[in-house]
Amino acid sequence: MYEKRFVLVIDQGTTGTRAALVSHDGSIMGYAYHEHTQIYPKPAWVEHDPLEIWEKTRLVIKEILKFAKVDPREIAAIGVTNQRETTIVWDPRNGQPIYNAIVWQDRRTSPLVDYLKQNYINVIQERTGLVPDAYFSGTKIWWLLDNVPGLRDKAKKGEVIFGTIDTWIIWNLTRGNKNVLTPERVGAHVTDYSNASRTMIFNIHRLDWDDELLEIEGKIPRDILPLLRPSSDKSIYGYTGPEVSQLLGGVSIPVCGDAGDQQAALFGQAGFEVGEVKSTYGTGNFILMNIGDAPIKSKANLLTTIYYSVEEGKTKYALEGSIFITGAAVQWLRDGLKIIEVSDEIEPLAASANDTGGVYFVPAFTGLGAPYWDQYARGLIIGITRGTERKHIARAVLEAIAYLNRDVLEAMIGDTGIKIPRIKVDGGAARNNFLMQFQADITGIEVWRPAIFETTSLGAGYLAGLAVGFWHDLDEIKQNWKLDKVFKPRMDPETRERLYSGWRAAVQRALGWARD
Ligand code: G3P
Repeated sequence: MYEKRFVLVIDQGTTGTRAALVSHDGSIMGYAYHEHTQIYPKPAWVEHDPLEIWEKTRLVIKEILKFAKVDPREIAAIGVTNQRETTIVWDPRNGQPIYNAIVWQDRRTSPLVDYLKQNYINVIQERTGLVPDAYFSGTKIWWLLDNVPGLRDKAKKGEVIFGTIDTWIIWNLTRGNKNVLTPERVGAHVTDYSNASRTMIFNIHRLDWDDELLEIEGKIPRDILPLLRPSSDKSIYGYTGPEVSQLLGGVSIPVCGDAGDQQAALFGQAGFEVGEVKSTYGTGNFILMNIGDAPIKSKANLLTTIYYSVEEGKTKYALEGSIFITGAAVQWLRDGLKIIEVSDEIEPLAASANDTGGVYFVPAFTGLGAPYWDQYARGLIIGITRGTERKHIARAVLEAIAYLNRDVLEAMIGDTGIKIPRIKVDGGAARNNFLMQFQADITGIEVWRPAIFETTSLGAGYLAGLAVGFWHDLDEIKQNWKLDKVFKPRMDPETRERLYSGWRAAVQRALGWARD
């Protein structure tokens, strides 16, 4: 009899797929990672090959077991977390996708969204908590049904099924095992409420697909949709099928945790109290606030979304602000402007300036997300004088990341009336001490950085582990959260507000710039 020592997590992200082993004390016992191809068939179109993603998933499972020298019999459960919204339709009889995955960043469905905005903005916002946008899955399914020859017919006959990436991975993990929640679909054809809440066809109040929205968004047949389940499912979505069990030395492991990656990150940050906030500093920033048992309608165009669920028919909600470009602006300094050679150079360079000398940088390269939602905004650098040096620009880029975060946090405070106790941070740029200190200074809120940054993997691991009793409750998980450093606000309020009002003025000049 082998002692269960780990939970295996698959984190299928936009650029690559990671497998990680989470141990009971919340440490990560190594990981394996592989990138996949980004496909850009036309400007503003972004696709992934679902079969390549599945191949990379198998590869990382194989590698992690080898690197970590773990016996598969020591694995208690498998949890899945994923890039959200990305849309796949496939034939369950042979596992063949009928089209590439249409990625969340893809803008091809903007005209469909314009139509929805003109006619149904209120009903969509009311029921889904989302601001209609090409970002979400609904119009991507609609586009596929209209543009792939014969697909609508097949969908009506139930010959194809839809899923977000979590669904695709779980279906493949469990494919061919009879012990799954939907054996008639060859694998477990399921999604959790958090992923469903990003499709724009899911009613976040009733926790069910919404027939009227299915009709409005291109007459999507309900039959192609996955079964809705809690993020941590004691009923178990399914057990690994023959293809995966072969990688696991013949062992069949329960798959029972599923959450969108940003939700998983808040869970991995042990954000269990109402008002807890996490911000992930990646290419962009995703900020989520736990708002508890009931949805709140945002007055500032934040998204209301499902946070997680551990029980059928019940859920926790979150407010979310997505900022499209933050870390990508640092990459632009490196690759576009070439004023740094590697990204890490930005911290000492920015810190060598006492201030930006009045320079503001608004990284609205692809428009601005929450709370502005202006697809016509464009980037600007303003306030340049004869004395401006590269260190000032570098500092202005990092400060912009913090200002954008404050914009979202202010909107969250306005919507909820909650005094945010602290911002828990993760993602690559959370290592940047200068940025974290400025974040605390410009918000007046403490920034808490955990010792373990892989909070997304941790969150998905905890959800799977809770389902099989590897962890028993949230208190046990909370014990695992370890602090690395607290950044306390040091800036005087007058300076803080003067700097921030300069930022707001700079943003006003960026808005609407590319409108005809
Ligand atoms: O909503 C999109 C988000 O889930 C993507 O996350 O980390 O794969 O870029 P990531």
